[in-house]
Amino acid sequence: MLAASAALAACDQQPSPPNGSTSTISEAAPAAADVPAGDALPLMVVHKSPTCGCCELWVEHVREAGFPVDVRNVQNLHPIKQRLGVPYGKGSCHTAEVAGYVIEGHVPAGDIVRLLAQRPDARGLVLPGMPLGSPGMEMPDGQTQSYTVELVTRDGTTEAFAQH
Ligand code: CU
Ligand code: CU
Repeated sequence: MLAASAALAACDQQPSPPNGSTSTISEAAPAAADVPAGDALPLMVVHKSPTCGCCELWVEHVREAGFPVDVRNVQNLHPIKQRLGVPYGKGSCHTAEVAGYVIEGHVPAGDIVRLLAQRPDARGLVLPGMPLGSPGMEMPDGQTQSYTVELVTRDGTTEAFAQH
């Protein structure tokens, strides 16, 4: 309960980047490059709060990487996070489903593509919180934080999947 509400509150408090024109700042280079040409990516369903601007920017990011996206605005993400197995304390502002995996937070599209290529037996990927400079969280002044995308194993533990 607490984790999810905290994540939602954090989303509301975050300054949304005023526009989406900062895409040059921190492109995770391998993002679209790993996708074999002509290979359609699976549909991604994104659950988000209707008022969250950074979620919108992340949706644009994954669309640009080639994912078809179905956006579902919901007031309460907590039941969805619980159903999809987002571990306690690993929540962020939006929760996506793709090819049977959960993708929590501002995970770079390149990491999702690698997940789908490797298809580990796992729940999915989480990027807790909202690190500055992650896709959808680009700051106008170019500020960035280093962050670690984590793989959530079947039993709910996590291990590092990608460092940024
Ligand atoms: Cu966010
Ligand atoms: Cu979001």
